[in-house]
Amino acid sequence: MEKIIDESAQGKPLILEQNQENKRKLFIESYGCQMNFSDSEIVASILAKEGFNTTQNLEDADLVLVNTCSIREKAEQTVRKRLEKYNAVKRINPKMKVGVLGCMAERLKSKFLEEEKIVDLVVGPDAYKDLPNLIEEVDAGRNAVNVILSKEETYGDISPVRLQSNGVSAFVSITRGCDNMCTFCVVPFTRGRERSRDPQSILSEIEDLVSKDFKEVTLLGQNVDSYLWYGGGLKKDFDKASDFQRATAVNFAKLLDMVAERFPKLRLRFTTSNPQDMTLDVIEVMAKHQNICKYIHLPIQSGSDRILKEMNRLHTRQQYFELIDNIKKIIPDCAISQDIITGFPTETEEDHKDTLSLMEYVKYEYGFMFAYSERPGTLAARKLEDDVPEPVKKRRLAEIIELQRQHSEYRHQSFIGKTVEVLIEKESKKSDQHWSGRTTQNTVVVFPKENYQIGDFVMVDIKECTSATLLGEAVEYSKNN
Ligand code: 5AD
Ligand code: SF4
Repeated sequence: MEKIIDESAQGKPLILEQNQENKRKLFIESYGCQMNFSDSEIVASILAKEGFNTTQNLEDADLVLVNTCSIREKAEQTVRKRLEKYNAVKRINPKMKVGVLGCMAERLKSKFLEEEKIVDLVVGPDAYKDLPNLIEEVDAGRNAVNVILSKEETYGDISPVRLQSNGVSAFVSITRGCDNMCTFCVVPFTRGRERSRDPQSILSEIEDLVSKDFKEVTLLGQNVDSYLWYGGGLKKDFDKASDFQRATAVNFAKLLDMVAERFPKLRLRFTTSNPQDMTLDVIEVMAKHQNICKYIHLPIQSGSDRILKEMNRLHTRQQYFELIDNIKKIIPDCAISQDIITGFPTETEEDHKDTLSLMEYVKYEYGFMFAYSERPGTLAARKLEDDVPEPVKKRRLAEIIELQRQHSEYRHQSFIGKTVEVLIEKESKKSDQHWSGRTTQNTVVVFPKENYQIGDFVMVDIKECTSATLLGEAVEYSKNN
């Protein structure tokens, strides 16, 4: 499962260069994970060829698209609130058309058209290439739906437009879908079976980004470690591959090695890793290349073996510890972050304590923590009662968040007095006199601007920290500039 991105980016309309010949206006916004944001760039690219320029102004739009998330009930409620807002605008401008994209479109399908009368268009994550036809239908006054999940679609042949980009970091998707079937998770139902993208198209997309002076690329997938290219086809059908396909197959370690080797000046990240699929080869490739960032997002979800089993996580607490030990042995300064769910059905106080003790062992740099939210259609929803009372979920969540805050502070304090390399990404949110960037460990560093520029690699002396940020002063350009 990939990371939910920065709260401040959620729901911001995406803007791309205006083409004078394009007459229609598209307002497109995204919620949820990075994959959705990345998909919206593909959608904008497809629609730019169909005569649409993007707009930041909802009131001006001919077409409003919202890329949606179903991961938790709250994510869906946020989208429903947005739909109410579009409805208000549509009352003033009845010609405006509204389309729902992404996971909620896939989950609710044509029900959307019945339940939400203002929706004209419903398009699932594998059907974006059909948008031109679907929009034609809508223009002719008919509602349009395409929620067919594909076995092949990777959008490898579409070069996404970089929307709202800082020109420094970009995301490149390498897999789509997920075969893991964690029992709490709606993603396998909304994003379909796992498929990997052709390595050549990945390399050429990165080549293009490098030629545009991008400095950092994050390889993106629900489960990147499970990347496997053998000339097309689903991951689950690899058993049927020919000898030649097997001999020439590219797994994640190989892909990472290829990209790092080919673009030695590019900072390389990836997300998300799944403990059961992460191999020692991947960790060794990370150690081998200076340009692969020393950071792994490694969701655990629960520290209890019994709950991990109920979640169908396919690894034990002990195996997770062994993986952590191997990472720390091979890459001692590697940062690790987590996703944890509290209050999964049947979770006892004992299970919760197992999660806290696992956190004590790992001392994650940071984490993303959630109260369990039952998702219709998932295995957990079908088989288990959502029986942990809401106040108990909330209390456990608060305990986990507080422990994580302490661990983040502990990790950050270890940087005080050190000099770290930072890639400058943007102005600090709190001060226009300061830059904000990240270390290889993905820790945010804020420091006075001086004459440095966005996109520079600089060496920064760390003076202070909070549980979220390191504060320092730049001392010189990094030799990696
Ligand atoms: N309830 C709460 N959190 C969930 N996640 C996934 N499904 C659910 C759910 N039903 C969390 C997991 C995942 C992260 C992206 O979202 O921790 O790793
Ligand atoms: Fe991630 Fe598991 Fe959901 Fe797949 S099923 S997206 S691995 S949480």
